[in-house]
Amino acid sequence: MPAVLTMQPQKQYLFKHKGFYFPPEVITAEYIDSLEDFEIRDSDVFIATYFKSGTVWTQNILSLIYHEGHRNGTENTDLMDRIPWLEYNFRNRDYNSDPSPRLFATHLPYYLVPKGLRSRRAKVIYVSRNPKDVLVSYYHFTSLSSIIETAEDFGDFMEKFLAGEVLASSWIDHVEGWFSHKDDFNILFLTYEEMKKDLRSSVLKICNFLGKRLTEEELQDVVDKATFNKMKMDPRANYENLSSDLIQKGKGHFLRKGTVGDWKNTMTVAQSERFDSVLKERMQKLPIKYCWDINEDLPS
Ligand code: A3P
Repeated sequence: MPAVLTMQPQKQYLFKHKGFYFPPEVITAEYIDSLEDFEIRDSDVFIATYFKSGTVWTQNILSLIYHEGHRNGTENTDLMDRIPWLEYNFRNRDYNSDPSPRLFATHLPYYLVPKGLRSRRAKVIYVSRNPKDVLVSYYHFTSLSSIIETAEDFGDFMEKFLAGEVLASSWIDHVEGWFSHKDDFNILFLTYEEMKKDLRSSVLKICNFLGKRLTEEELQDVVDKATFNKMKMDPRANYENLSSDLIQKGKGHFLRKGTVGDWKNTMTVAQSERFDSVLKERMQKLPIKYCWDINEDLPS
C-alpha cells in the first residue's frame, strides 16, 4: 500500500501585537492588553531589556541585593520565582498578591508596559548591549529555546534581526524607544559592557538607584556571586532548571560565553559591514555609545 503523506501544520513562532512580535505559545493578545492596567506599586522594580542583553545577569544581581537568603545560600529559589517575567507569566502567578517589594523582568517596548510605570511610579533598570553581541547570542539561543524558531543560517537570521522580524522585534526600535522616553520613567540605564568591565561599580550604581545600602562584605558577596563563572555553577541563577517546554535540553546553555566581542567569532567582515550600514545612522543618534571588544575602553 502506498504511504500516505500527512502534512503537519507549520508551527507558528511569532505573532505581532501592537507592532511587537511575541511567542504565541506562551502569551496572548488579551494578556498583553491587560498589562496596561496592571497595578504598579511605588516599591516595584523592573528590569527591562531587549533579548540577550544581560537580563538573567541583572535578575541575579537584584536577587542577591534584595534576598539575603540568596546571598548566603540559605534559600534555594530559582530566579524565575524571585524575579518573574511580567509578560510571560510562566508560573501562572497572581502578582497582585505578591509581597512588596516586587521585582520583575520584561522585554516589552516602552509603550506596552503598564501605564503606572510610564508615569514614573516604581523603578526601571534598562540594560542594553552592543547589538552585534546581542545578535550572535540570540542566534545561538534559537537552538536552545523551544519557543523560538531555530535559525539554520546565521546570515539569514541576521537579515531577520535587522528587519525586526524576530521575537522582541527590532533591537534599535527597542533601545531608541526606551532612551527617547526616559523622562516618562524613573529609570537607570546600564550597559552589559560596563557591567562586564566593572561589575563592582555597576552593582554600586544599582544599589544607589534603589536606595539599598549594603555593607562592604555584602557588596563583595553580590559582586562575587554575579560573576559569569559563579553564576554558571549556581543552578538557582543559571536557568538550567527551566522546563523542557521552554528549553531544549542538551542544546546549549543560557550562560554561554558571557563576554564582549564574541561577534567577531561568528560574523564575517562583509556581514559586519552590512550590519553597520543598516544601523549606523540611527545608532549615531543614540545618547549612548557601545563597547565592541573586551580589550577596548568603555566609550565616555
Ligand atoms: P552570551 O550568549 O553572549 O554568552 P539574557 O539574560 O538577556 O538572555 O542574556 C543572555 C546573555 O547574557 C548570554 O550571553 C549570557 O551568557 C550572558 N550572561 C549571563 N550572565 C552573565 C554574567 N554573569 N556575566 C556575563 N555575561 C552573562
